[in-house]
Amino acid sequence: MVLPTYIPRFACRSFLIPGVRTDTGSTALATTANLSNRMDPLEELTKDAPDRIESATTIAELDVIEAEVVGRRSPVAEARRELGRIEDPVERGAMGKAINDIAVDLTSRIDAKRGAIEVEEVNSNLAADRVDVTLRGRVPDRGTHHIIQQTIDEIVDIFVGLGYQMVQGPEAETDFYNFTALNIPKTHPTRYESDTLYLDYGEGDEEVLLRTHTSPMQARHMEEHEPPVYIVVPGKVFRADAVDATHLPVFHQIEGLAVDDDITFADLKGTLAEFTRQFFGSDTRVKFIPHYFPFTEPSAEMHVYTQGKWIELIGCGMVNPAVFEHVGYDPQALSGFAFGMGADRMAMVRHGITDLRTMIDPDVRTLEQYR
Ligand code: PHE
Repeated sequence: MVLPTYIPRFACRSFLIPGVRTDTGSTALATTANLSNRMDPLEELTKDAPDRIESATTIAELDVIEAEVVGRRSPVAEARRELGRIEDPVERGAMGKAINDIAVDLTSRIDAKRGAIEVEEVNSNLAADRVDVTLRGRVPDRGTHHIIQQTIDEIVDIFVGLGYQMVQGPEAETDFYNFTALNIPKTHPTRYESDTLYLDYGEGDEEVLLRTHTSPMQARHMEEHEPPVYIVVPGKVFRADAVDATHLPVFHQIEGLAVDDDITFADLKGTLAEFTRQFFGSDTRVKFIPHYFPFTEPSAEMHVYTQGKWIELIGCGMVNPAVFEHVGYDPQALSGFAFGMGADRMAMVRHGITDLRTMIDPDVRTLEQYR
């Protein structure tokens, strides 16, 4: 017989007092004076119960065990009911205390276990729900401006640094601003449908087309503003060209216009040379070759010496007095220069890109290089 240590010694001794009389053969206090028989139920109870309680893993499991070991049908309850049969008050008292001690002990074990399981459950819920705030956020893929936009921004910045203001104009333009106000005669080939994309809207001066250059903003701006004028105009332009290595039907220009009371060709050369040195490097050489544009007189092409060769980059000239007349400026009192360059072409020369179609390549491996 193994007595669990938590049964008070004196209670055990009391419990062992022989001569208990009982009529039942039930499991509780023994039916006979046989000591070991009488001990069995409580001994059984105290032997297994602590381990069973300890092994419970859920509250539900523990509830079942609790009912079995201290509930109304438990051996403990039965033993209590049997107490009345013990005639000797001393013996009954001792027995009652022993049973009670067992009940209190088991109940406190159950309560402790219940607390432990609850803590366990809370902890595992917390662990399952845990947000690891130390985890690095997902960094979205970083985009970048297209190389053309980067080039436009850089060019505009240089002119802004020289005191110019950036303005923008409509892509769908009228015949008047795109051609007439710029002194381009009705018969000029650039007006042909083979060169210009018309929108089939409006007639005569009001006929609407996709602007073939950014020069219309010269006229629009002067109409709306008093001199002096110092503007740069970046934007998309359109021409009826098939796509090949040197042509796209949509490309980008940056227009420039300076009008003041004493502007000379020397100002034009100085300004464009300064721009070129800022854009390509301080020792870059430029040269001006006579050319023809209806809206400038005289006109020139500026060539830049870069990467071992001369490249034609900028169309320019002194504003034609006819243009001043179209916009209501006095050609006697004012003079100015204008220039226009292709942004796509500037980007290609700058970055050694040889095929213009690269500019419309949507392949991410191409685009990623613009970062
Ligand atoms: N508009 C001209 C072109 O598209 C360029 C230019 C602009 C030339 C301004 C002279 C002055 O080719």
